[in-house]
Amino acid sequence: MLRTPQWPGLGRLLTATLLLTGGPLAVAYNLDPNSTESVTAIAKQMAEDMLSFYHGDQPGGTPGLLPNPYYWWEAGAMMGSLVDYWYYTKDDSYNNLTTQGLLYQVGDTIDYMPRNQTLTEGNDDQGFWALAVMSAAESRFPNPPADKPQWLALAQAVFNTQAARWDPEHCGGGLRWQIFKWNNGFDYKNSISQGCFFALGARLALYTGNNSYADWAEKTWDWMVGVDFIDENWRVLDGAHIGHNCTDITPYQFTYNAGTFILGAAAMYNHTKDQRWKDRLDKLLDATKVFFTGPDKNIMTEVACEPVDRCNLDQQSFKAYLSRWLAAITKWAPHTYDYVMPYLRASAVAAAKQCVGGQNGRMCGLKWNQDKYDASTGVGQQMAAMEVTLSCIVKDRAAPATQNTGGTSKGSPGAGGDDIGRDQPNGPSYKDITAGDKAGAAILTLLVTCSMIAGIVWIFIDEASDKTPMQQFSGFHSSATASIAAFAAGGGAAAVLLLKKGAQEFNEKTAAAVSPVSERSSRSSADNNRAIEEAPFTICHVRNQNVGNHEQRLSNMPLGWPHNRSLRGSTVMEPGQGWARSTRDLDGARQSDNEAGHSMPSASSKSMPGRRESAE
Ligand SMILES: *[C@@H]1O[C@H](CO)[C@@H](O)[C@H](O)[C@H]1NC(C)=O
Ligand SMILES: *[C@@H]1O[C@H](CO)[C@@H](O)[C@H](O)[C@H]1NC(C)=O
Ligand SMILES: *[C@@H]1O[C@H](CO)[C@@H](O)[C@H](O)[C@H]1NC(C)=O
Ligand SMILES: *[C@@H]1O[C@H](CO)[C@@H](O)[C@H](O)[C@H]1NC(C)=O
Ligand SMILES: *[C@@H]1O[C@H](CO)[C@@H](O)[C@H](O)[C@H]1NC(C)=O
Ligand SMILES: *[C@@H]1O[C@H](CO)[C@@H](O)[C@H](O)[C@H]1NC(C)=O
Ligand SMILES: *[C@@H]1O[C@H](CO)[C@@H](O)[C@H](O)[C@H]1NC(C)=O
Repeated sequence: MLRTPQWPGLGRLLTATLLLTGGPLAVAYNLDPNSTESVTAIAKQMAEDMLSFYHGDQPGGTPGLLPNPYYWWEAGAMMGSLVDYWYYTKDDSYNNLTTQGLLYQVGDTIDYMPRNQTLTEGNDDQGFWALAVMSAAESRFPNPPADKPQWLALAQAVFNTQAARWDPEHCGGGLRWQIFKWNNGFDYKNSISQGCFFALGARLALYTGNNSYADWAEKTWDWMVGVDFIDENWRVLDGAHIGHNCTDITPYQFTYNAGTFILGAAAMYNHTKDQRWKDRLDKLLDATKVFFTGPDKNIMTEVACEPVDRCNLDQQSFKAYLSRWLAAITKWAPHTYDYVMPYLRASAVAAAKQCVGGQNGRMCGLKWNQDKYDASTGVGQQMAAMEVTLSCIVKDRAAPATQNTGGTSKGSPGAGGDDIGRDQPNGPSYKDITAGDKAGAAILTLLVTCSMIAGIVWIFIDEASDKTPMQQFSGFHSSATASIAAFAAGGGAAAVLLLKKGAQEFNEKTAAAVSPVSERSSRSSADNNRAIEEAPFTICHVRNQNVGNHEQRLSNMPLGWPHNRSLRGSTVMEPGQGWARSTRDLDGARQSDNEAGHSMPSASSKSMPGRRESAE
């Protein structure tokens, strides 16, 4: 999308100017997590700095969009954080901006599938907007004018479209990551898509009292456990491909995956009062210990990518959601309060302390556990620091409303119906899309910007290209189907994935992958985490730079490309190869990966230059 440069709002300009001059004098925030005044005052500045990235409320800006390269979903997540901001601080300065953003993006069918995004929108993206409006309903955020879509009805609309996408044909159920079949990731079922749907269903059940939503939440939970995305150690793993009946599990743990299930489990517990849900919630909570590091193991950390400096733009925001949801559950499951708060308070103090960056001397970085600013800046960093700060005063805030306890948002149980069964985007016809992307394919580039943690490599082929995957791959100087090696968890779980996501006629056929599950059961979550942190890294994230109006949204998970060229061909798998052959390749793969790890300079001291690959 083309965006014209804009003048920042006068207020923000002034602030920026003032702080620019005050930079060197800036003092770190000294948060008192037990003081409402301290929390409110600091959160106010963090919100202001977060919104310095947003121009949707300014002339020429598009409400509800963040500038490139932020994806659409993150703007929805940010609107959710502004709902929280109002709920915690009672400061309504941003309420209009929030309402405007939330309403502008609802799309023609009023279910968060706006034309501009449907080409690349996944279930999780849509889900994040739904969770934001659900929060608006629960926190009694001012309702939109009566002639506009209402918070609850929007949440129901998203729920209805997603329930209709439940896919029993593959892996026995679950939602696919992507909504439309030509998108990268259509063959992947991921935890965050299920998690958003699960939490949304649970919260709708609680808010409306309608058990149909709870039934769906139960079903989603059962499926997650059935396919081992929630494993026997209560770890919430990232997802797997339908080509392998969801057995090729990507073993990373991200805060937001755990967060959605914790949130939904708490809502289900409150809704059902069932001991089973309390147990599940407590077990999941216990497993989140893995995300807390530092001398006292109480500072929230995105362990899958922070220690190796490989958090992509999306991942930089994930701690915002775990913070948000850990605070939220203390209302629905009050027994969790004493457990959760020490973690949140310690994390908030640590997060606030490192906000000394940027020209204004108070921008927040990503890492909270090292007592210093890590020189990164962004919407995600601001949002995460703000949410964890706000969470400290959750006790003083009202419990989320329901229809029976003061909730006033109007619902519409059948909302979203127009989109049910739709498998093509609204707006541009498929023909137009194909033509546009053919033009774009000529200068299509793959930007490979990061690297890899414990070892999975993802290879993405652009499905929009008019070349066959074979032709695209031939430019990579590796074997015909490329592939890679990986390894994870110090001799335990190991993974080799060849992700082939491409032209539809090639789908599944060339995919070959190995499940990392073999020794999973013998490993504790802590072991696994340590292994992940210590492992040589190689994860990348591949971003598609496309011309035209459509941003290709490829991922919010680590995507990979072996940094070391010679590794790209080191584990060659033929199309259609299955588990056995690939498993045999594992030892060799692990070997070469370890060697590469040793020969590389230390992970964290070296910033991986973005690699530009022509898809030619
Ligand atoms: C905040 O209050 C909690 C509970 O009363 C207490 O345990 C904690 O030490 C306090 N933290 C600070 C920094 O005062
Ligand atoms: C928000 O919008 C309403 C209606 O457009 C307006 O009356 C109000 O002054 C605005 N509030 C702020 C803080 O800008
Ligand atoms: C969609 O894109 C067009 C063109 O950039 C823009 O004018 C419009 O506001 C966008 N709509 C939404 C909902 O983002
Ligand atoms: C695929 O996975 C589902 C869910 O785990 C399972 O019920 C089904 O039996 C599996 N199918 C095959 C062919 O293995
Ligand atoms: C309960 O929710 C289901 C699923 O959305 C819906 O079909 C049904 O009409 C709702 N029932 C009531 C009484 O609102
Ligand atoms: C459910 O949530 C309400 C509101 O926060 C709370 O008062 C109640 O104790 C919760 N119920 C259970 C079983 O925890
Ligand atoms: C790439 O990997 C090969 C094989 O493991 C190794 O010999 C080589 O030194 C590595 N190159 C770099 C730059 O790490």
